[in-house]
Amino acid sequence: MAAVSIEDLGGALQRAYPELEAVRAAAGEIPVYLVGGAVRDLLLGQPRGDIDLVVVGDAAALAGKLGAETIEHERFATAKVRLGEHEVDLATARTERYERPGALPDIEPAASIDDDLGRRDFTINAMALALAREPRLIDPHGGRADLAAGQLRVLHPGSFADDPTRALRAARYAARFGFGLDPGTEALLRSTDLSTVSSDRREAELLRLADEENALRGLELLDAWGLVPLQPGRLELARRVDELLQDPPWSGVVDRAPALLAAVRTAPGESERPLAPPRHPSEGVELARGRQPLDLLLARARGAAWLDRYLNEWCKVALEIDGDDLIAAGVPQGPALGRGLTEALHRKLDGEIDSRDEELAAALAAARRA
Ligand code: CTP
Repeated sequence: MAAVSIEDLGGALQRAYPELEAVRAAAGEIPVYLVGGAVRDLLLGQPRGDIDLVVVGDAAALAGKLGAETIEHERFATAKVRLGEHEVDLATARTERYERPGALPDIEPAASIDDDLGRRDFTINAMALALAREPRLIDPHGGRADLAAGQLRVLHPGSFADDPTRALRAARYAARFGFGLDPGTEALLRSTDLSTVSSDRREAELLRLADEENALRGLELLDAWGLVPLQPGRLELARRVDELLQDPPWSGVVDRAPALLAAVRTAPGESERPLAPPRHPSEGVELARGRQPLDLLLARARGAAWLDRYLNEWCKVALEIDGDDLIAAGVPQGPALGRGLTEALHRKLDGEIDSRDEELAAALAAARRA
């Protein structure tokens, strides 16, 4: 699987991130490393935009030396700088200790890069590349071999208990890279208790999964692993939602990731009841208007094909007249105004009237009706 050989790593690093030479020079004797997903993706031959660096020393001080704009976060001793076209996260090497399962960890500065790598989720994310004249891969947990084998493996048996969001991350990586699980990791994964993590953190990680191109595979895996069980038919519904969002008129109507999660979470019953086709466009508009775009999309995915016409045509139909025209014609302020305009719109939608004069006549007739 690894596309870049060890011999070519230095060259690959230089080609992907020429601006890191400035970091190496600024760091001098202080050890700095490219870490985590950035190393994994470099080895895969798919370098990415955001770069994570770890400093065995003061990350904020190094950021300062680089002269770029920095944002510091005290608790984690991190800094973010912009270098060339890349955003670079600089973090002080740290260890993590979990007081109880699912809690945020207590953090201490780490004495070495190995200690920092040892706190990480999967071997493929626990590699570092020393930013030296001769860049050197640091791979104490066999991440490169797992990358080549296409498998996810945790560093220690307590990993998912410490941080159960890692189980959700496993689905994300498995879906993204088409990786399997090493048998020990699979057993641990299947017995992970997600309830020890706050729902906010769980939700954030699920949204990251749903944002993957291969999100549905990830959700399918979570179901198969017994971690996020899905009701029958929900994956198919999410698949239809995903397809609909690719093309007009549904593309851009809602954000994809939350829509996919909403699709797999629709309650029983709710998902079997499509919005019945209207007899007239005006009836369709009454049915659809006032519903959230997400509800309309889910209804469309459940089979209400007429909603395509609602979005393409009906919801765009507007009157040429407005309330002022009715007031000018003697209609008093009040419910009669709305009644008149609604009636005129319905008749226009249903093709019964067309011109401005006809709109006005229809609206006035309805407004004057007791
Ligand atoms: N990490 C971890 N446990 C977590 C979250 C993150 O060990 N629960 C570590 C991993 O080493 C990961 C790094 O922190 O590579 C950065 O986390 P994140 O930005 O979430 O992952 P990346 O690998 O950088 O990005 P992506 O997963 O999207 O490729």
